[in-house]
Amino acid sequence: MESAAILNGMRWTDTEGREIHAHGGGFLYDNEYIYWFGENRTGRRRVSCCRSKNLKEWEFRRDVLTLDSSVKPVYYRTNLELEPVAADGTVSSQGAVIERPKVLYNEKTGKYVMWMHWENGRDYHDARCAVATCDTVDGDYVYHGSFNPIGYMSRDCTLFCDDDGTAYFLSAARDNADLHMYRLSEDYMSIEEQVKTLWPGQYREAPAVMKRNGMYYLLTSACTGWLPNQGAYAYSESLTGRWSPLLPLGDGTTFDTQPTFVLPIYGKDETIYLYIGDRWDPSDYHQSSYVFLPLVFSGKTEMSLSWADAIDYDPALGAVRTQTRENLGIRLKNCAADRFLAVRVDEKNGVSGVHVQDLSYTSQDQRWDTEDVRDGLFRLRHTATGLYLAAAGGLEEHGQVSLATFNDSRDSAYLWRKVELEQGLCRLRNHLTETCLTLTADDGESLHLSADGGEWNPRKGRDPQAFLISKIFGN
Ligand code: DGJ
Repeated sequence: MESAAILNGMRWTDTEGREIHAHGGGFLYDNEYIYWFGENRTGRRRVSCCRSKNLKEWEFRRDVLTLDSSVKPVYYRTNLELEPVAADGTVSSQGAVIERPKVLYNEKTGKYVMWMHWENGRDYHDARCAVATCDTVDGDYVYHGSFNPIGYMSRDCTLFCDDDGTAYFLSAARDNADLHMYRLSEDYMSIEEQVKTLWPGQYREAPAVMKRNGMYYLLTSACTGWLPNQGAYAYSESLTGRWSPLLPLGDGTTFDTQPTFVLPIYGKDETIYLYIGDRWDPSDYHQSSYVFLPLVFSGKTEMSLSWADAIDYDPALGAVRTQTRENLGIRLKNCAADRFLAVRVDEKNGVSGVHVQDLSYTSQDQRWDTEDVRDGLFRLRHTATGLYLAAAGGLEEHGQVSLATFNDSRDSAYLWRKVELEQGLCRLRNHLTETCLTLTADDGESLHLSADGGEWNPRKGRDPQAFLISKIFGN
């Protein structure tokens, strides 16, 4: 990968070599820089700001919002706490959690206005938004308090400023079931009116809005905590009018990302729109990384997203080149546990069998390769150990899976077939036993082989044989 490239799915450093923590980010053009605001949960920091001219070299500017930021009430704000006191009088150990900060410049007031998602640091029950302002783009923002917009819950959020300067705040409401769109007051400091409720009951979050050739697009994810899922987009000729149905964007995990912003890149001949995604690491928030990918448009409304290991942006041309390596393997998520097929390897005991574990982008335990053999049959090879997933030996081990070096005398024990299910899921049926890989109910961690569950009755919970197979992209 050429050095000038922006490596997706990696943790980036600023021009001083420090790790960039600007998650759930928002971007703003100001003078000749692109400013990047994002979550920073290290110490008492809450929102950090960097700037760049080429998307590759990011100059750290300031922790623009911290638990020690000055506060100034504005008459319609209700809660100035940044270190919330619980009902029992205890103060949250980590202070308020601030997520998805976005900043707009208000031409009328000359203020930079930040909106964000606010929670109390102990749980996600308060579901508030919050506002802060500054006279300069990267100065110390003054915190004006958190509140529930028109009394609604407000979690994942974003801002969008239309061509006429009217600003909108979008946030997940009703425990994430609905996506609300609010028009802001002229000074961008308050909610003027709820103008739309989108996809009620469909649990869309991580909103990002863009406009291209008069068409609005809204990108969202489903709600799966810190795990990635199938992204979607919708389009409309009017923000408050009828929106298209939700259409798939990217692959089943949106290339292991969740959307946070769409950044227009103004080139000589055309404007390119960059999808900005977070690759959350559920095992360690601070290991989370970033993904910048060019959106591709066709026809009047169609949007698509393809993976690129790296992008190379030439500010002079406003052009973006992509670079992609060959397939880096797969991960297999068991959908009953929302955990990933893995081999536990430790120094002392070496390989200790196959199980499911929480997603971690840095672990080699959950990386697999497939080797196609014949007629849809394939072998599953654990990349780091070179061992293969197989049906275990004789009758006494009936129903067990093993990890072993390939033994061609038991060839079909190493062969698997995907049994397609709905929504891109599948079962993994062993060719020797004709039974399927199944999460073991009692411990929710180990796996065994059992008869194909057939038409799964959702009343029984989630199908222990259902897997989502996703390619590994980037790191
Ligand atoms: C998904 C949201 O998009 C994130 O901002 C964060 O709130 C996590 N959920 C918390 O589980």
